[in-house]
Amino acid sequence: MKTFGERRSIRKYQSRPVSGKLIEDIAAEASRAATMGNMQLYSLVITSDPEVKARLAEAHHHQPMVVEAPAVLTFCADFNRFCKWCIFRDAVPGYGNFVSFFNAATDAMLFAQAFCTLAEEKGLGTCVIGTTVDNPQMIIDILGLPRLVFPVLTVTLGYPDECPEQTDRLPVQGIVHHDRYADYPKDAIDRIYAAKEALPESRYFVSLNGTDNLAQVFTRFRFTEKDNLSMSEKMITALKKQGFI
Ligand SMILES: Cc1cc2nc3c(=O)[nH]c(=O)nc-3n(C[C@H](O)[C@H](O)[C@H](O)COP(=O)(O)O)c2cc1C
Repeated sequence: MKTFGERRSIRKYQSRPVSGKLIEDIAAEASRAATMGNMQLYSLVITSDPEVKARLAEAHHHQPMVVEAPAVLTFCADFNRFCKWCIFRDAVPGYGNFVSFFNAATDAMLFAQAFCTLAEEKGLGTCVIGTTVDNPQMIIDILGLPRLVFPVLTVTLGYPDECPEQTDRLPVQGIVHHDRYADYPKDAIDRIYAAKEALPESRYFVSLNGTDNLAQVFTRFRFTEKDNLSMSEKMITALKKQGFI
């Protein structure tokens, strides 16, 4: 990838390993990302052991790249390290609460995006895997994450063995607002989503799922309320167990 405008997710990787030193070098550079109060409220767990990857794959619904990628990266919101520092310095931490989770999750995601951008600039391929929020407790158990550490994002990493077409994006006028939020009347929605709805793959998914339109593919099959409610419950339970709520 020469410029960010050329990026795409990579899901197939060469068997060539990615050295731990290279990952640490990229992590060091990515840690220049903005971070709340310069506290660096995140940790990165690098998994390359095939046995651990296989266990992680279960948590990620057996998505093949979790076992196939040379490295699986779990970006965690982490208040554990900072709290330990406070406790060992006779300072009383007050970070077992939801806002602290949100701040640490923001830190972790900024760090993760910086990491991915830098890795892609160096010729590596990445794919963000959102199933981390589906089975957080499994990931917490597999990786041995202590209290006040929570997995927020997983990224598979390796040298690309594919160069897929770039996916579409909404026109920038559809996502940017000037001065105040301009809500979307139906004709604006029609305009903003027209190109996406007209794509051959969109039409294919509509006909495959027997729906009237693409939005129904999302609401009825891809991201359903039932699944979201079940994931929300699992996430809230895990957040309580990790001491964030
Ligand atoms: C929060 C999040 C969760 C994602 N989860 C998955 C996933 O579970 N499996 C997968 O193959 N891709 C996943 N992706 C990658 C998206 O599918 C991909 O970014 C999107 O389709 C746009 O394609 P592009 O990255 O190639 O531009 C995820 C991306 C994000 C940001």
